Amino acid sequence: MASVRATAHPNIALVKYWGKKSAAGNIPAVPSLSITLDSLTATTELTEATSDQFVLNGEEQSGAAKDEKLTRFLSYLRERHDVPPLTISSTNNFPTAAGLASSAAGFAALVTAVDQLCALNLSTKALSELARAGSASAARSILGGFVGLTGPKFVAESIATREHWPLQVVVAITNTGKKSVSSTEGMTRSAVTSPYYSNWLDTANADYDRARAAIQSKNFTELAEVSEHSCLKMHAVMQTTQPPLMYWNPASLACIQKIQNLRAQGVDVFFTIDAGPQIKAVCTQNSVDSVATILAQMPGVLSIEKIGLGGPAQAKG
Ligand code: PMV
Repeated sequence: MASVRATAHPNIALVKYWGKKSAAGNIPAVPSLSITLDSLTATTELTEATSDQFVLNGEEQSGAAKDEKLTRFLSYLRERHDVPPLTISSTNNFPTAAGLASSAAGFAALVTAVDQLCALNLSTKALSELARAGSASAARSILGGFVGLTGPKFVAESIATREHWPLQVVVAITNTGKKSVSSTEGMTRSAVTSPYYSNWLDTANADYDRARAAIQSKNFTELAEVSEHSCLKMHAVMQTTQPPLMYWNPASLACIQKIQNLRAQGVDVFFTIDAGPQIKAVCTQNSVDSVATILAQMPGVLSIEKIGLGGPAQAKG
């Protein structure tokens, strides 16, 4: 039976997405801006089958473990394209569902593989739109380098190539467990209960424009300030949601403070954190080695990885 493989990388938002305008097709309520990572990779292999089957990191998923997001996505896909029953085998070379954007990389790899298997010949925009229906952040993993996701269409747009500004990221892993509240559930709760949600929506466009300009002019301090601000506003919304979404652990907070001190001493580094306790420290090539050494010694940091900026999702034939 026909079989294809595709790979995609996670991306990390510098200007964060949190909140949906519409659940159908996952239309975000705010613009976001990300960097695609290298070396962390999701690989998805598709084989035509007699019924759908999902294998994650070598383990068949069934019953409660079956991914609801994936089942919903396959229905969405088949309403639009002629896609046969599939065995979907997905492998991540990094922790799954722990705030490392595994679903972004996974859905970007999946739509790229479906496009190849079914000879759909979709444009990059159409692939990004389809990936967004799986997970909004997946729309951004279709492209490499610096990527924007803005309305009204919310399909990924390249802001700059990775060669334009080869930033580096030190990922500090502080917990490898799965997150307790999914981002979709968390966003729904925040929109209804956080007193800061409307301010979050009102200020997102300005953050996006500021970050985009900082990338174009390679102004590290400016990008650092707006990225940390966007991250902290998102976590303020999360933490003031009822019941609260507290994704940090003590090591996350210790790393935030260490990174702020380092920048005050002139080191090129800023932090960002998603729906999990891992710290992503964005650096320049000058600072990456010293930041990696310092974060590796922080209490509660289990491991670190130094990662460059990555390229787009790719079918492997
Ligand atoms: O696309 P989702 O549902 O995995 O949501 C991602 C949300 C954050 O990672 C917290 C922020 C972002 O913009 O990636």
